[in-house]
Amino acid sequence: MSICLGLFDSGVGGLTVLRSVLRRHGSVPVVYLGDTARVPYGSRAPSEIRAIAAEVVAWLKDQDVSTVVMACNTTNALARDVAEGQAGVPVVGLIGAAAALVRESRVGVLATPATVASGAYRESIEALHPGSLVVQQACPDFVPRIEAGDLSSPELRQLAMGYLSPLLEASVESVILGCTHYPLLEPLLRSLLPDGIRLIDPAEGVARQLDALLGSPAEDGHAPPLSLASTRLCVTADPEGFATRATPWLGERPLVELVDLRPQACSP
Ligand code: DGL
Repeated sequence: MSICLGLFDSGVGGLTVLRSVLRRHGSVPVVYLGDTARVPYGSRAPSEIRAIAAEVVAWLKDQDVSTVVMACNTTNALARDVAEGQAGVPVVGLIGAAAALVRESRVGVLATPATVASGAYRESIEALHPGSLVVQQACPDFVPRIEAGDLSSPELRQLAMGYLSPLLEASVESVILGCTHYPLLEPLLRSLLPDGIRLIDPAEGVARQLDALLGSPAEDGHAPPLSLASTRLCVTADPEGFATRATPWLGERPLVELVDLRPQACSP
């Protein structure tokens, strides 16, 4: 089977993972699915998130991907077993990769309500770094605003200050961006955090984990230019809106296909 990565997320968030993967590994073949008809995932019940993960991974499998990359923390936290059961190919996730990037003993985690409630980040960090303090904060308003194209409004800034405040009160030394949408807010978050606090983007860990499959890139300090030549971008709703929102992050306006995840009934 030739190599093809299947990445999925509820919307534009997984593009932060796509970007890290393409920067590290060049134009590896990718099928990206943004489930924009059902975004946000992070405010849904665990049973619903698990059913969605099964459907999305079954669709990726039909596209003949050779590895599934869960470019979504929420499904990673609640349905990794579902994805592994459905995929029939290796599954790469974000949460373990992020925990492996932690070097500090006081760690903040910003994530969706479902990811925070699952405790998956706390568990992974504590398993690798026993005795560390993990302060989790759910950020329910971030994803709807990011999907609406708001990355810097005064209201968003106010919300971010509220979400960061418990982390600052606990004197965290690093903050994990535990939802793939949040690296899109990095400039805003950076401006609100003291200089010494490190922001951790799990996507970097995922891109490195893929070295085992794709080989290590030449470490000459020069990232290859981002190329979408072998990337197929698919969404379940609003392909043009998605293309518009994706343009600044991908450096070009991509072609985006509208897909239906449910198997089509055969005509008689
Ligand atoms: N970007 C996804 C995550 O990493 C999903 C966010 C959402 O749809 O709520 O959790």
